[in-house]
Amino acid sequence: MEWIKVFSSGEEARKKLTENKPQLLIIRGQALCLVMRGGAFYAVENKCSHNGEQLHKGVVNFLGEVVCPWHGYRFNMKTGREVGERSGDLVTFPMKENDEGVFLAL
Ligand code: FES
Repeated sequence: MEWIKVFSSGEEARKKLTENKPQLLIIRGQALCLVMRGGAFYAVENKCSHNGEQLHKGVVNFLGEVVCPWHGYRFNMKTGREVGERSGDLVTFPMKENDEGVFLAL
C-alpha cells in the first residue's frame, strides 16, 4: 500500500471540496469517488457495482451514503457495502490527514 498526497493541506482540501458532494478523483488512471463529510475524507471506486454508473454523479444522503444516480443503490463510504445487499461491495481507499497534507492509500 502506498500513500499518495492528494492535497497539500487539510485547509486546501476543505477549500476545494464541498461537504457531502461526491467528487471525481483520478489517480494513476484509476477513477475514484471522493467525499468530504464531517471534516473527514472518504474514497471508493467510482464505478457502481450494480451496472457501472459513475458514482461521483450521485449524491450523499443524510446517512452519509453515496447514492448512485442511475438506480439509487446506496453505498456506505467507510465499508463500500451496498446497504440493501443488492450488489457487490465497492473497493474503499483509506485516507488520512496530517501536517503534511491529505493522503490516499492505493
Ligand atoms: S448502476 Fe448504480 S444502481 Fe444501477
